[in-house]
Amino acid sequence: MPLVTSTEMFKKAYEGGYAIGAFNVNNMEIVQGITEAAAELRAPLILQVSAGARKYANHTYLMKLVEAAVYETGLPIVLHLDHGADFEICKSCIDGGFTSVMIDGSHHSFEDNIAVTKKVVEYAHAHGVVVEGELGQLAGIEDDVNVSAEDASYTRPEQVEEFVARTGVDSLAIAIGTSHGAFKFKKGQKPQLRFDILEEVEKKLPGFPIVLHGASSVIPEFVEKINKFGGKMDDAIGIPEDMLRKAAGMAVCKINIDSDLRLAMTASIREHMAEHPSDFDPRQYLSPARDAIKAMVARKIINVLGCDNKL
Ligand code: G3H
Ligand code: 13P
Ligand code: ZN
Repeated sequence: MPLVTSTEMFKKAYEGGYAIGAFNVNNMEIVQGITEAAAELRAPLILQVSAGARKYANHTYLMKLVEAAVYETGLPIVLHLDHGADFEICKSCIDGGFTSVMIDGSHHSFEDNIAVTKKVVEYAHAHGVVVEGELGQLAGIEDDVNVSAEDASYTRPEQVEEFVARTGVDSLAIAIGTSHGAFKFKKGQKPQLRFDILEEVEKKLPGFPIVLHGASSVIPEFVEKINKFGGKMDDAIGIPEDMLRKAAGMAVCKINIDSDLRLAMTASIREHMAEHPSDFDPRQYLSPARDAIKAMVARKIINVLGCDNKL
């Protein structure tokens, strides 16, 4: 089974009222934990790589790790560029074997976003690769860009039809109140998503796959463990699982998760090192960290995404 695009996955997900998990990968243990969970639950899967991940681990290493996972599990996997900032990085990933790219022009003007997205779509489609665009701006941190809550802006439903028609994108990320990172809402603020915007978008683009970024739940048991074993993540808060499940039943076909992977791994390593202070073999603490990722991804697939047994 080679790497695949998300076209068929999204079609089935839309019709079936579930979503595909798009998990960020940065090293071998993360790839293994995610793919072992997806394989056991027979879940379709998107693995995504950010510019930061390429800088950290190198394009070829990540590509080969994902190919190894396809070989070992037999899963149909989409390999996706997360938050491509410009045409050049999208082209580099398309030329380098990715099957899907995101061009994130959300910080540009509407016209400039259309121009750069259209250019990426033309190149990608000529190479059999699919493209995710974005309209509206999420708050939070991604790579070196930190968007404050004040500067974030919800997607304007009246723009989505024109954007999709003029760019030819295959899926669209929208901003309805999710945000990147582990601190998604201010202390005391009640987590809320603008389902009214999602409904409007769905009406304007019937059958079209929508993407939610910044969709980690910031699972409290990981935060508690991190705090218990010497960390300091007070006030970390994410998107409640029931809200994500609701979105997955609507037009949302791709749900992006990175922070929950980081939290699962960090909580496990902190706990292990606190309980085994003289361990210095990385395999001793990375094995339980990989298991923690696997368990977390399995829980997401069943409770949030609803994509188990959908191969
Ligand atoms: O949306 C951002 C993702 O969590 C990737 O984060 O740019 O630090 O790799 P990163
Ligand atoms: P989280 O920070 O909520 O995991 O979001 C990840 C993401 O959107 C990657 O593109
Ligand atoms: Zn994102």
